[in-house]
Amino acid sequence: MATKSGEGFSSSFGAIMAAAGSAVGLGNIWRFPYICGKYGGGAFLLVYICFVFFIGMTLMMSEFVIGRRTGEDPMKAYPKLRPHKPGWRFVGLAGLFTCFLILAIYLVISGWTLNYFWESLNGTLAGIADGDFGVHFNDFASSPFRPVLFIVLFLVFTTVVIIGGVEKGIERVSKLLMPILVVLLLVLCVRSLTLDGASAGIAYLFQPDFSKLTGEGILAALGQALFSLSVGMGVMIVYGSYLPVDDNILKTSVWITVCDFAIAVLSGIAIFPAVFACGQDPTGGPGLVYQVLPMVFNSFGGVGRLFSIVFFLLLSLAALTSAISLLEALTQWLSNEKISRTKSAVLMSVAVVFLAVVASFSFGDGIWSGVKIGGMQMFDLLDKLTGTILPPICALLTIIFFGWFMKKDDIIDELSNHGTVKIGYFDVFYYFLVRLVAPAALLIVLISGLIN
Ligand code: PFF
Repeated sequence: MATKSGEGFSSSFGAIMAAAGSAVGLGNIWRFPYICGKYGGGAFLLVYICFVFFIGMTLMMSEFVIGRRTGEDPMKAYPKLRPHKPGWRFVGLAGLFTCFLILAIYLVISGWTLNYFWESLNGTLAGIADGDFGVHFNDFASSPFRPVLFIVLFLVFTTVVIIGGVEKGIERVSKLLMPILVVLLLVLCVRSLTLDGASAGIAYLFQPDFSKLTGEGILAALGQALFSLSVGMGVMIVYGSYLPVDDNILKTSVWITVCDFAIAVLSGIAIFPAVFACGQDPTGGPGLVYQVLPMVFNSFGGVGRLFSIVFFLLLSLAALTSAISLLEALTQWLSNEKISRTKSAVLMSVAVVFLAVVASFSFGDGIWSGVKIGGMQMFDLLDKLTGTILPPICALLTIIFFGWFMKKDDIIDELSNHGTVKIGYFDVFYYFLVRLVAPAALLIVLISGLIN
């Protein structure tokens, strides 16, 4: 199907799978459940739903419009829409810089996940005693060689897909992996919900505890909503430039958002009932997936190994389709600078692997754990920057551009596919959400988060 940038997705379904592949990732399965539990379960969920549907989805639609209207990468798209104000290209640059940082930390965690998949397959995890999982994880993640090996392996898979191209690489892999991912997740949910004592996990996830919903929790909800939908960083501008010209952007954005939200909630349903049923601590934080869950799987007996394989495969596949979108954003930009796609992908991969290795060495008791910036280890700093600070800043600039500097007629023309698609009450939506609510909410939450 025709796209403005020449290259592109072959159908709306392919585009939805690719963009949902970007959105569904470690953020949904690894991060959402523990943040939700930490900040008050159902209370957090309520705030999160508002951020996802009112702010995240608005941003997604805006990025798709910017991308498809221009057919350009984020650095060129902004100046193309405001030719006499080239300074806007720095918003694109800030987004790409954020993508680079996210990809680095993403690779570290994906490397752990791939290692755990391997250790589930070869039986290592099944042979570990309950009390030793913490030590096992720390020894592994802090060691210099093994995590790097898996980081590189994961990056090679990602780079190969990118070199394959938008339609034959990204779209094809996403169309294959996303349905597999949903099936694997449903299998885990059924297992988890049928365990004795599962209801305590459901209560933990859904029962609102407003006393835990602090200002920090609200900022975390916003950061998580943006991170989870992959918006604010320009990745959806990139995918927007690959959208077929007759794709219905509103519909596509709703589908992706619903899919991303549903998978986050299903991940919580797959994880918490099992954790409670096995009498484990649900507040394990980031270690939940690598320390608590393997213990839970072992308690299932013989079939536990199979569930462990399924879970870490699921997490690896989800991480892969997200890493693909991050590397694609960086590759598209470099290859627009007259470098071939293959060379661009390889150059970007080499550059990002250095940062990933630094982050890995600085994790836990790693060999560079003593190196600190602003009192934080490199890994924690990257996590904070990419999880809570940079995405809201980039998102705020993007939505201000979209609402206040882009021509409204252009937006309506693009959203309605030149008047051929009905866009209902978009006018009201536009003035309220795009121009006022989203920028104000982003600004307030950002400032209060930075002050605290
Ligand atoms: N949305 C992905 C997740 O939830 O894991 C992470 C991500 C991918 C964030 C792409 C940002 C991005 F541009």
